[in-house]
Amino acid sequence: MTRMEQAMDHGTTVQQDAPRTSLATLEERARARPEAFGRTSLIVCESLVRIYQAEGIEVQALQGLDLLVDEGEMIAVVGASGSGKSTLLSVLSGLDVPTAGNVRVGEWDLMTMTARERVEYRRSTVGFVWQQTARNLVPYLTAAENVALPMALAGRPRKQRRTEADALLDVLGVGYCADRRPGQMSGGEQQRVAIAVGLANAPRVLFADEPTGELDTATSADVLEAMRAVNRDLGTTVVVVTHDPGVSDHVQRTVAIRDGRTSSEVLRRTATRDDGTEHEVAEEFAVLDRAGRVQLPQEYRETLELVGRVRLTLEQSHVAVRPGHDAPAAAPTAAPTAAPTTATQGEDHPGHGRRAR
Ligand SMILES: Nc1ncnc2c1ncn2[C@@H]1O[C@H](COP(=O)(O)OP(=O)(O)OP(=O)(O)O)[C@@H](O)[C@H]1O
Ligand SMILES: [Mg+2]
Repeated sequence: MTRMEQAMDHGTTVQQDAPRTSLATLEERARARPEAFGRTSLIVCESLVRIYQAEGIEVQALQGLDLLVDEGEMIAVVGASGSGKSTLLSVLSGLDVPTAGNVRVGEWDLMTMTARERVEYRRSTVGFVWQQTARNLVPYLTAAENVALPMALAGRPRKQRRTEADALLDVLGVGYCADRRPGQMSGGEQQRVAIAVGLANAPRVLFADEPTGELDTATSADVLEAMRAVNRDLGTTVVVVTHDPGVSDHVQRTVAIRDGRTSSEVLRRTATRDDGTEHEVAEEFAVLDRAGRVQLPQEYRETLELVGRVRLTLEQSHVAVRPGHDAPAAAPTAAPTAAPTTATQGEDHPGHGRRAR
């Protein structure tokens, strides 16, 4: 009997065994992958997809988003309305499960964790601040009681709760509000108390979705500075979503999301001038994702009429992107030898070819 005949003879056995082995191998490979990408990062999002179905219409809120955040970092996430910022934060805070991809925070795999683990994760690992001041605080409890509430839920002793609540309110600069109810505080004070509530059980990460959305510019700056103090003094990793264009003054890294993907990052660093004095430099980079995709800014695409097919060429130090059509539109600033839209490497050639500031 040949092997084929044997297989046909024992058809059912062979057919059941074969897929079981290959599925196990695939699962093993899938488990191994997130280890390689962002192994040392606290937060790892890899090819995150979130599709919403609303009345038969499919909305792709996240479209293969990659993001790494290191322990102790404070980053800002910016982007147009509808770009997927809140969706990302809901996923990271354990409120929502993505449609596909990998997402890990610390030792927690947010794709596979059980409902019970999800509750434990939310209680022990993450704190959350919402945009709506009213949503963050219980209106009939004082500031100190609001901060002590999550501590009580975690089973901490009563005496310890009050002392720690007072200490946290002091870190946020609102110790004087301890015995006031939300209605007796300003919007900025309420948001700083809300941050203290988010930090009540000493989470590793604090997520804030537009915490300054309802505040004026000066108060916004106070709240962002309070979050920076938390990051610096308590070592908490902070991820803050905001529309506030001034946010990159407060954080080392600002990640921009466009159409459900990370499209660019602004990094801030201290540079030294020739005369030895120091100054802050902010540089904008385009983000090359795990699949090798990069988003070209709209103004570049419009200037060179880059639509559909484009020509890519590998130059010595960079990759050039040229229009695919035969008669390229005359580019006002085009250099004679290379197309102006290039994806380059290194700090001297920021991804968008321009200084952010
Ligand atoms: N529950 C839902 N059902 C259907 N579609 C949704 C749902 N939540 C969000 N979306 C859609 O997903 C996309 C991303 O929404 P998301 O709330 O993440 O955007 P955002 O960047 O936070 O915007 P904003 O700055 O306005 O808060 C939008 O097109 C939105 O309409
Ligand atoms: Mg939002």
